[in-house]
Amino acid sequence: MPLPAPHSFHLPDEAATEALAQRLAPLVYDRLLATEAPGPQAGGRIHLRGDLGAGKTSFARALLRACGISGRIKSPSYALLESYKVFNLYLYHLDFYRFSESREWLDAGFREILRDDAVVLIEWPERAGNLLSPPDLEISLDYLDDGRRADLSAHTERGLKWLNALLSPGP
Ligand SMILES: Nc1ncnc2c1ncn2[C@@H]1O[C@H](COP(=O)(O)OP(=O)(O)OP(=O)(O)O)[C@@H](O)[C@H]1O
Ligand SMILES: [Mg+2]
Repeated sequence: MPLPAPHSFHLPDEAATEALAQRLAPLVYDRLLATEAPGPQAGGRIHLRGDLGAGKTSFARALLRACGISGRIKSPSYALLESYKVFNLYLYHLDFYRFSESREWLDAGFREILRDDAVVLIEWPERAGNLLSPPDLEISLDYLDDGRRADLSAHTERGLKWLNALLSPGP
């Protein structure tokens, strides 16, 4: 599958980071269509890259919130993993900054989390080395003036669909 070049978005402030996440959320999990059970298309893996403070957690939190998580959304930087459930859809937010490739954690179900029918958001994916296959969508956040630049690249058909939808003019 020929993959398009990454597409850049300028995010001048945190509200813009959140707005981009809010546009992606209904593509990952269409809450309006799935009033009871998530549709078969729900889920996908997003890797969030960027320096400390680049906005990975801000983005993930806004996306989870827009998927229907109502309680507190903690950064997973200490626990490695925070899990959520909306109807029967699982959402996993991971942060591999402190990841050591311990067998224990692999045995503890790491691979079960990487399911196509769950929403999986991973900060610092590069710390997991070659344990991870390419995600549906990779988001790279860089500092730009007072704001950020987000480079989005799709690695699967699903990611490509999301990216095309984000790039097409809104209703
Ligand atoms: N587009 C933006 N422009 C300016 N500031 C932003 C933007 N998006 C988010 N921020 C701010 O940047 C900070 C991002 O913090 P956040 O915890 O999300 O970073 P992180 O990438 O998850 O860092 P870490 O690697 O430590 O997990 C927050 O203070 C947030 O308000
Ligand atoms: Mg973070």
